[in-house]
Amino acid sequence: MIKLQKSTFLHENETKEKLCEFIKQSRFLSMGNECKKFENNFSQKQGRGYSVFVNSGSGANLLLIQALLNGGQLKKGDVVAVSALTWSTNIMPIIQLGLQPFLVDCEINSLNVSIRTLEEAFQIEPNIKALFLTNTLGLADDIAGIADFCSKNKIILLEDNCEALGSIINGKLLGNFGLASTFSFFVGHHLSTIEGGMICTDNEKLYESIVMSRSHGWDRHLSPDSQKKIRKQYGIDDFFAKYTFYDLAYNLRPTEINGFIGNNQINYWDFIVDKRFNNFIRLHKAIENNKDLVALKFGHMDVVSSFAIPVILKDQLLAADYKKKFTDAEVEIRPMIAGNMARQPFYRKYVSNPGSQPNAEFIHSHSFYFGNNPELTNEELDVLEKLLRF
Ligand SMILES: Cc1ncc(COP(=O)(O)O)c(C=O)c1O
Repeated sequence: MIKLQKSTFLHENETKEKLCEFIKQSRFLSMGNECKKFENNFSQKQGRGYSVFVNSGSGANLLLIQALLNGGQLKKGDVVAVSALTWSTNIMPIIQLGLQPFLVDCEINSLNVSIRTLEEAFQIEPNIKALFLTNTLGLADDIAGIADFCSKNKIILLEDNCEALGSIINGKLLGNFGLASTFSFFVGHHLSTIEGGMICTDNEKLYESIVMSRSHGWDRHLSPDSQKKIRKQYGIDDFFAKYTFYDLAYNLRPTEINGFIGNNQINYWDFIVDKRFNNFIRLHKAIENNKDLVALKFGHMDVVSSFAIPVILKDQLLAADYKKKFTDAEVEIRPMIAGNMARQPFYRKYVSNPGSQPNAEFIHSHSFYFGNNPELTNEELDVLEKLLRF
């Protein structure tokens, strides 16, 4: 069986042995030095000013929206555009926190929001205040053009980069095109810390707001200067300083176990991205040569840090045949992320007008994906290549 995910993290046995040693010699395992070190390592690798480590990618999305509300960049009732092809917890925080989601369609051959689909959405809904863009499956459309469009129209650009760690366009890593970006380190994602997520930004004010909302709304993880400032602003004395809660918050902290694994796995970043890219290129050659399948557009990208391999059929009946072919060959497959979000019961329950997303609908009924990971063997790649051939 070629499963969607192979292992909990890369070099699993060796990493687990190191982890056991770390746990044995550690006195405290709640968020501390390993988490801080992982944040610094991640900022350096991603090329961002600030990184905040959290419990999951979903936690990162929730926390980012909360921090933007706390800071006043977003207000209750604002319209936030999102990709129709995304994960539930990219959209749910928008609804949970009293904002209005607006689904933006994707392009069939990039699986991502394009300037064209964004402009179309903007014509229907000119009050879009933010775009929480998902970089689907490690791919992206013209994201630099999207960033320009957002800046011209005063739309805050946020990237859900949970599926695209390491992808590069015009020499720039995905996750570095907007005000902030989120990452997931759940098993099966590019880097795994078992559970985990990150928020990156270059904006100090937003960073401080995120840090406070990660832990109860207190100031304990701000710099001494910032602590002094906020305590003075609110007239807080030393006795109450550690127990003052400045704004709405959660507890979305990771543990030292996640931090330790992150510091171990981040060393494999380049290896993981290279392997995933090479697998993608190899398998996409078979896709290109198969007239049943839609070839993907990625010539504008320097690196596709592929999350999974999308199989898009031109004909719906053929989709059923291909799904059977892969399943019979014991290759685990699944819907393209979760299909068109407009169809999800939660979306129907909370959003009265789901709008129209013809391309996401096409993807919903004409496609599936199978796993890509750095541990796929040559023999397994042969099997997959053969299945993709016409
Ligand atoms: C685009 C996207 N956003 C958010 C998430 C949530 O990440 P997590 O599972 O770490 O909560 C996922 C998970 O796969 C995802 O694909």
